[in-house]
Amino acid sequence: MLFDLRAKERRDELYGRKEEADELIRLINSGSWVAVLGPRMIGKTSLMKVALSELSNKYTGVYANLFGTKGLGSMLVALVNALNSTRGTIDKFKSFLAGIEEFHIGPDGISLRSSSKPVTTMFDLFSALGRTGDHFVIALDEVQELAAVSPHLLKILGNVFNTYRNIQFVFSGSNFGLIRVLLEPGPGSPLYGRSPTRLALKPFTKDVSVAFLKSGLHECGMEFGEKRIDAVVERLDGLVGWLTLFGHNLAVKRLAYEVALRETVEEGKGIVRSELDHFLEGRDKRLYLAVLRVIAIKEPLGAKWGEVKREVEMELKQVLNPASLLNVIEGLRRAGMVTEEDGAYRIVDPLLREVVSSTPF
Ligand SMILES: Nc1ncnc2c1ncn2[C@@H]1O[C@H](COP(=O)(O)OP(=O)(O)OP(=O)(O)O)[C@@H](O)[C@H]1O
Ligand SMILES: [Mg+2]
Repeated sequence: MLFDLRAKERRDELYGRKEEADELIRLINSGSWVAVLGPRMIGKTSLMKVALSELSNKYTGVYANLFGTKGLGSMLVALVNALNSTRGTIDKFKSFLAGIEEFHIGPDGISLRSSSKPVTTMFDLFSALGRTGDHFVIALDEVQELAAVSPHLLKILGNVFNTYRNIQFVFSGSNFGLIRVLLEPGPGSPLYGRSPTRLALKPFTKDVSVAFLKSGLHECGMEFGEKRIDAVVERLDGLVGWLTLFGHNLAVKRLAYEVALRETVEEGKGIVRSELDHFLEGRDKRLYLAVLRVIAIKEPLGAKWGEVKREVEMELKQVLNPASLLNVIEGLRRAGMVTEEDGAYRIVDPLLREVVSSTPF
């Protein structure tokens, strides 16, 4: 069902992403490692899950959500959990884990004894998978928080890349901490020259957004006037996650139209605001907010570098050093809040635009 709030897992529930899904499948089939990129709520997790399920007759797909994992130890736990819930996998590779002290193989799958050497343990785990000879696609979602352990992780990934062609990774996360280290590896990095192929998701166009809402409503046996649908798209734009939430409020929860839209905006803004607060911790809040606000106001054309500089300086009544401003914009870009195309900076998410416009310094 289109208005189901969980990430989609089947192609027939995945609206308007045929090309992207085909492309992800093509890249995996060609042996590539891939990074699925895009702002929050654009459908990254859904795209990865659909690709894994479509490829399930050829590859063993392992989906691991690394949300909240900050170190290799907790990443190991998440990986082991993901493997335990991937049907048929444990039986195939448990013999390759036998003899490694950190793993215990019981009736419910693998469990992890506390590991004092998570780097070695993680490599042992991937080696065991690799030696089965089966072909694995391991989707690591929400990798952003692992930036702190990136040197170790990059080393492990570089090793897997060189040793086991039958293990491929697909990475995603809305916040580019680790993804950036993966995508722009310096000459000293174990992934230098082997960084994953990028697959960037764009918001739906206006027409696709309208058609998405209509199809979802139709599935629920409801119809709505063009004007009201247009008004929703005007407000929520082409971010499929917000459109789905609205559709769910209206057609599943059966809230009245105005209430459904208001609740979607409020809930969405709550999510966006808490992410923004988290991002701003330890940063120059005044400066970041001024930059975001100036960019938000310039929608839909976007703001050029010179405009951002001039208007932020006016707002803060101080002259800005170009290098510091560039640093701020880069930080926002990496966090997925700001995009840059043809020299214009934009905030794609309309709810983020509303939040920054109403947040006092
Ligand atoms: N192509 C699609 N068709 C229908 N619904 C979709 C599509 N893509 C995403 N959704 C819905 O939108 C919401 C967000 O999707 P998803 O979790 O895949 O996005 P995401 O980019 O991973 O979000 P986040 O950044 O929060 O992790 C979910 O409710 C999901 O069901
Ligand atoms: Mg996701």
